[in-house]
Amino acid sequence: MRILGIETSCDETGIAIYDDGLGDSPEGILAHRLYSQIAVHADYGGVVPELASRDHVRKTIPLIKEVLADANLTPQDLDGVAYTAGPGLVGALLVGCSIGRSLAYGWELPAVPVHHMEGHLLAPMLEETPPSFPFLALLVSGGHTQLIKVSQIGAYELLGESLDDAAGEAFDKTAKLLNLGYPGGPALARCAEHGNPDRFTFPRPMTNRPGLDFSFSGLKTFALTTSQQNTLDEQTCADIARAFEDAVADTLAIKCKRALQQAELSTLVVAGGVSANKRLRSTLDAMGKELNVNVFYPRHDFCTDNGAMIAYARYQRLLAGEHDKLTIQVRPRWPLSELNIPQTV
Ligand code: KG4
Ligand code: ZN
Repeated sequence: MRILGIETSCDETGIAIYDDGLGDSPEGILAHRLYSQIAVHADYGGVVPELASRDHVRKTIPLIKEVLADANLTPQDLDGVAYTAGPGLVGALLVGCSIGRSLAYGWELPAVPVHHMEGHLLAPMLEETPPSFPFLALLVSGGHTQLIKVSQIGAYELLGESLDDAAGEAFDKTAKLLNLGYPGGPALARCAEHGNPDRFTFPRPMTNRPGLDFSFSGLKTFALTTSQQNTLDEQTCADIARAFEDAVADTLAIKCKRALQQAELSTLVVAGGVSANKRLRSTLDAMGKELNVNVFYPRHDFCTDNGAMIAYARYQRLLAGEHDKLTIQVRPRWPLSELNIPQTV
């Protein structure tokens, strides 16, 4: 079975083909392409939804053609089309939904909606050594920071989440106030590499009280105040970036440790754009070592948005017994817990 995955929920057009390996192709991603809209939004310092939608219109079909050519396939070789139906920017989602459904109609294939965060959640399973269920998932993206107990596909329990800014959003906003440009996360991480970790100490929000929720908006304010109290030269900027990054990484690690112990889990899966962050990875790896917990990440290309995770999530839900839905809908907001498949045991 081969599934074409289409991702257009925000500022990246991602297209990929997943093969289950039961035919004449090897199991895995046969081809994938990603077009990032960085250049489109850079002048505005953030994603402009209308421009994002228009750019997805321009790029989606050419990328689908390229991916089919890369995999040496024709539409007749496909068995289904999966597209991100939410959460995300509604105009951007509608582009992937409309193109995916129209192509599938023309090609006489099923077209199915996929939850963007379920895609992120399952992306580490595309690696050579995949995690096994049950596991704790830390989802850290531009729009979400969530701790989820994953018992199996379609059995998701939300244990904690951000009450304000998501981790990626906090990176982006802090980068903006330090004039590091867009996209903020990778820019701030690069700047932090030259920072002195001992100059500033930022708080680890909500870690001194019980619970698994997060709050990252205060860190951005802390960065602003620190930048106003000091001359914001290159070194100070790097020192603030480093202190901010350490605070986010430590806070996430403290809450992961608590969740792993409370839920009695020994596997941690980290996914979403911020999972590309090296400091976060080394902090979580150290925590995993201390607890004897195995930590899994997607490969770098599949941390941020991509079509591979969408094709793969659809395949996994199909295996778990989900049937096609006939409703055509995109959802800017969509709780992951609504995806739960009724368990038979
Ligand atoms: O998963 P993603 O591509 O899109 C959403 O679903 O939101 O995540 C994008 C977020 C952005 O906030 C971006 O700044 C952040 O991930 N990000 C990073 C890094 N790479 C991407 N944050 C910190 N360090 C990175 N290396
Ligand atoms: Zn994403």
